[in-house]
Amino acid sequence: MFSSSRQTLKYLHHVSASSTQAKRHLASIAPGILQAKPLSPSFGAEVDGIDWSRPLAPEVVREIVQLQNKWGVLVFRTTGLTDTTHVQYSKNFGALETAHAMNKPRRASLPQLYDAGNLGPDDKIIPQFSRAWWHTKGNGLWHTDSSFHQHRSSYSALRAVELPPVGGQTKYADMRAAYLGLPNDIKERIENLVAEHWIWHSRKLAAPQEFDKPTDGEKATLPPAYHKLVQIAPDGINKTLYIASHARRILGMADSESTSLIKILLDHAQQPQYQVTVKWKNVGDLVQWDNRCTMHRATAFQDQSNRRDMRRTTIHDHGPGAFGVKNLLSADDIDIRAGGKIDISEGATPETQTQEQILAM
Ligand code: OGA
Ligand code: MN
Repeated sequence: MFSSSRQTLKYLHHVSASSTQAKRHLASIAPGILQAKPLSPSFGAEVDGIDWSRPLAPEVVREIVQLQNKWGVLVFRTTGLTDTTHVQYSKNFGALETAHAMNKPRRASLPQLYDAGNLGPDDKIIPQFSRAWWHTKGNGLWHTDSSFHQHRSSYSALRAVELPPVGGQTKYADMRAAYLGLPNDIKERIENLVAEHWIWHSRKLAAPQEFDKPTDGEKATLPPAYHKLVQIAPDGINKTLYIASHARRILGMADSESTSLIKILLDHAQQPQYQVTVKWKNVGDLVQWDNRCTMHRATAFQDQSNRRDMRRTTIHDHGPGAFGVKNLLSADDIDIRAGGKIDISEGATPETQTQEQILAM
């Protein structure tokens, strides 16, 4: 339905005809081996047609990349992948990150698997109010994975190993559409700006009492990273807004101005018209998203009575923006302030879990 060139031309026409009606450019893809069922008119698709029992043929990998460039978020149901085959599959798209396990001792069997669940290394539910529990709450903020690394990531591939009966869906935001929907004056204002991303900022937003002062070891292990706010999406056509709750400040601005601009951008991007919600249905479901043009967040579930075991591979970006802009900055731009001094008391942005919501879970 959305793949004919006539449809594409119509969208392009919309872009020039009226910015309020603007739709981002959607590439047309020739029919291939895989079938994509859109989750919304221009963002997210459920994909069928992969034989998960064997390594993927190169043409299937190429089709996945095309679909990923088009839809941003791909849902594969009941893959049957194991830890080992999940990691093997992910290597089709590039080198994998070694998952950091800050504050949450590693549980999964391979170092490339990031643990996004609520279980500890003893296989028991992580107790409420422990540092590890608070750490997981950062995933409830809108973010994109690894923007806090100077070598950012392209895709994340998250696999369900155990699911709670209710809740625990994952929400996604289309950052190409969000960029397109920004008022022109903001587009002009942000065109060449650079944001500093720091994981300890998002941990502090989610849990100020626990992460107000990250330890020296934490800060040394995960220092801030610097990336442009406006980038060309991996489709090579659309511009995209690269921001996340990890974004602590915008370079060259006073703290108050920077905090308020970050809030404006995050509030804008998390509006419902840019979102899809993925409901995890079965063990083995795999959702793969492009961190370069989407944001996502975890949603609540009964995390003290239900187990949720989610394992994620994260693929290093190999594109033009892979290493951000740190090399172009002067030493004065790079923030070495201890603990983060920006005032975050303006409160959580909409759709972000507040302290009350976290405590009510
Ligand atoms: C992640 C993440 C959200 C979820 O794995 O990167 O943010 O719903 N997960 O588990
Ligand atoms: Mn994440």
